[in-house]
Amino acid sequence: MKQFNRRDFLKAASAAAAASVVAGCASGANGSAIAPAQQGQSVIGLIAPKMDVVRVGFIGVGQRGFGHVKRMSHIAGTEIKAICDTHNEVLEQSAKYLTDKGLAKPALYTGSDNAYQAMLNRDDIDIVIISTPWAWHAPMAIDTMNSGKHAFVEVPLALTVEEMWQIVDTAERTQKNCMMMENVNYGRDELMVLNMVRQGVFGELLHGEAAYIHELRWQMKEVEHKTGSWRTAWHAKRNGNLYPTHGLGPVSQYMNINRGDRFDFLTSMSSPALGRSAYAKKEFPADHQRNQLNYIAGDMNTTLIKTVKGRSIMVQHDTTTPRPYSRHNLIQGTNGVFAGFPNRIALEDGGSKSFHEWDYEMADWYKKYDHPLWLKMGEEAQRNGGHGGMDFLMFWRMIYCLRNGEALDQDVYDGAAWSVISPLSAQSVSNRSASIDIPDFTRGAWQSAKPLAIVGRE
Ligand SMILES: NC(=O)c1ccc[n+]([C@@H]2O[C@H](COP(=O)([O-])OP(=O)(O)OC[C@H]3O[C@@H](n4cnc5c(N)ncnc54)[C@H](O)[C@@H]3O)[C@@H](O)[C@H]2O)c1
Repeated sequence: MKQFNRRDFLKAASAAAAASVVAGCASGANGSAIAPAQQGQSVIGLIAPKMDVVRVGFIGVGQRGFGHVKRMSHIAGTEIKAICDTHNEVLEQSAKYLTDKGLAKPALYTGSDNAYQAMLNRDDIDIVIISTPWAWHAPMAIDTMNSGKHAFVEVPLALTVEEMWQIVDTAERTQKNCMMMENVNYGRDELMVLNMVRQGVFGELLHGEAAYIHELRWQMKEVEHKTGSWRTAWHAKRNGNLYPTHGLGPVSQYMNINRGDRFDFLTSMSSPALGRSAYAKKEFPADHQRNQLNYIAGDMNTTLIKTVKGRSIMVQHDTTTPRPYSRHNLIQGTNGVFAGFPNRIALEDGGSKSFHEWDYEMADWYKKYDHPLWLKMGEEAQRNGGHGGMDFLMFWRMIYCLRNGEALDQDVYDGAAWSVISPLSAQSVSNRSASIDIPDFTRGAWQSAKPLAIVGRE
C-alpha cells in the first residue's frame, strides 16, 4: 500500500502544481479549467460489487465523527471494525458507546497523526468514514482509496484545486467511491424541492441561492480540542468562502450539475473582516493566541457562479456576524420560486396565491411533494436524529446503495465541484473579483451523465 503522510502529501501537491505550471496545465491564475492527463476511467455511475455486510472504519471521532459512530451502529448490515483518532478521550468514548450497546469492541488506533495508516492496512474494512479537520481530508481519502477501500469524507472534500484533482485521479485509478458526505441533500425540504424541480413545478430553472450563514464565533473558545481548535485558523488563512457545500449541494442537485450542466466560472467578493478580531478582543486576554491572529476572511463572502447552461447561483458564507441561521435554499424557475429560512413558495401556475405573495403554509406542499425517500424513511430518520434526520438518512442511503449494488447519490466529481468554490473564491477575492474558471472534474462526462435517479424520474 502506498502511504502518504500530511507532509509528503503537501510536498507532492506543490510538486504537482509546479509541474503543471511547467506543462501549462491544471491550476494557473485563471487556468483552473484545464484538466491534467487522466490516469484511470471515469467513475460516474460507479457501482461497487454488492456487499452483504458493510465493514466500517472511522478516522476522526470528535464532535461530528462520534455522531457518525452512533448513527452507523443503528443501521442494519454494518459492522464497525476499527476506529482511529489522535485524541484518546474521544476514541474511548466511541468504543464505550458501542460496547455499552452490546456490540463488539472495535480495534482502536491512536498515538500519532499517521496511526490511521495502520488501520488502512487491515483487510476486513470496506469503507472508511473520515471526519477529521479539513487539512486531513485529502491525504486520508487518497490513502483510503489506495488501500482498496471506499472513502466517505466530511465536508469540504478538500482545500485546493490540486487536492481535488489528486482525489479525482485516485478514484478513477482505483475505481473506488469517494463520496463527500453532504448531509443537507438529505433534508426533508431539500428532498421535497428536488422532487418538485424534477416534476417541473418551477418551470425551467434560472437561478439558485445557497449559503452557510451560521454564527460560530463561540467556537473560538475551543482552543485545545474540538472544531474551533483548528477551524479558527482558517479565518486567518483564506479570504473567501470557507465552507460552501451545505447550501450549494442541494442547489447543484436541483440543477443537475455534473449531470447535464456544470459550473463554468465564478466571481467573488468579501466584506471587511471585523467580527472575529472584535470578538477576540472582547472575549480573550490581550496576550491570548486568539488575539494574535490576523483575521482576513471577510465576515460575509458572496460568490456568483455561472453554469455552462447560463444559470446563475449566489453562494454566501458568514459564520461571524450576529444574524439568524440560513442556507437560503432558493431555486427560481420560469414558473416561480421556492425559498428557505423560512420556507416559502410563489408560483405563477399551480400555487394557492398570486405569485406576488409568498405562501408560507407548507403542509399541503409536503402532502403533495414529499420525496419518496422521506416518505419511506423520514420517521425513522427523525427518530435517529442528526440535523432533523438528514444525517441518518444519508447514512442509511449510503449503506443501502453499497448493499444493493446501486450507484451513490453523490460522487467524487460532485464533492470536488462543490468544494473547489472555496479556493477559487479566494483567488477571485484577491484579484478584484476577477472571473475564475471552474475545473470540469468530469472531463466532459457531465454532458452524457444521467440525472440522479433517486426521485424515480430521470
Ligand atoms: N456535515 C455536517 O453537518 C458537519 C457538521 C460538523 C462538522 N463537519 C465536518 O466534520 C469534520 C470534523 O469536524 P468536527 O467538528 O468533528 O471537529 P473535531 O475537532 O471535533 O473532530 C475532529 C477529530 O479528528 C481527530 N483528528 C485530528 N487529526 C487526526 C489524525 N491525523 N488522525 C486521526 N484523528 C485525527 C481529532 O482528534 C478530533 O477528534 C470537519 O471536516 C467538519 O467540517 C460536518
